[in-house]
Amino acid sequence: MEILQSEFVKSSSKIEECPEAKYPEFAFIGRSNVGKSSLVNMLANNKKLAKVSGKPGKTQLINHFLINNNWFLVDLPGYGWAKASKTDKAKWGEMIHDYIIGRENLHNVFVLVDSRLTPQQIDVEFINWLGENGIPLAIIFTKADKQSKNKNQSAIAKYRKVLKSTWEELPPMLLTSSASFEGKEDVLKFIENYIR
Ligand code: GTP
Ligand code: MG
Repeated sequence: MEILQSEFVKSSSKIEECPEAKYPEFAFIGRSNVGKSSLVNMLANNKKLAKVSGKPGKTQLINHFLINNNWFLVDLPGYGWAKASKTDKAKWGEMIHDYIIGRENLHNVFVLVDSRLTPQQIDVEFINWLGENGIPLAIIFTKADKQSKNKNQSAIAKYRKVLKSTWEELPPMLLTSSASFEGKEDVLKFIENYIR
């Protein structure tokens, strides 16, 4: 799939405000600064679509983009931003929870993890929570350009090892870089399989 058309639709602070659920939807989530907005822009060939920032906590709302006039891409706020207040964290948690559990057209959640880090508790817990709630997901390893191929492979292997104890069948895992465009086709193919 090529993305020929991408347009920002709406930012919502809760599920009730989201656009009418009339297209299949794919959401991107992960810790603050992991590269969600950059990945969205890379997939869409549009550097200005989602706001990218060196400072964590840039994306604070549920952002809907309409792609090729037939599916929604959603950029979600990052979880686990250390500097956010407790009240803000609770608010984001509730918003993300309600959206993921309640959004009827949500086909898949892409959980982004930094390929340079060993599995982080917050990510593993979130992945397991999706699994327990029967939400389809795939893990995307970001910033692959920042380290060697070997290190990227070992990052994936570590996740397999950690998840093996709780998962019968491991979720799909994709390696990407928004700088080198690695993995772009894999992610788009993955989405295409759902919307055809
Ligand atoms: P929040 O909206 O704050 O949750 O962050 P985010 O997950 O949307 O991250 P964002 O895309 O804004 O990127 C954070 C920083 O990482 C920026 O400085 C990006 O330029 C950088 N970055 C993101 N993806 C990549 C990548 O694949 N390679 C490299 N080298 N840098 C990246
Ligand atoms: Mg962002």
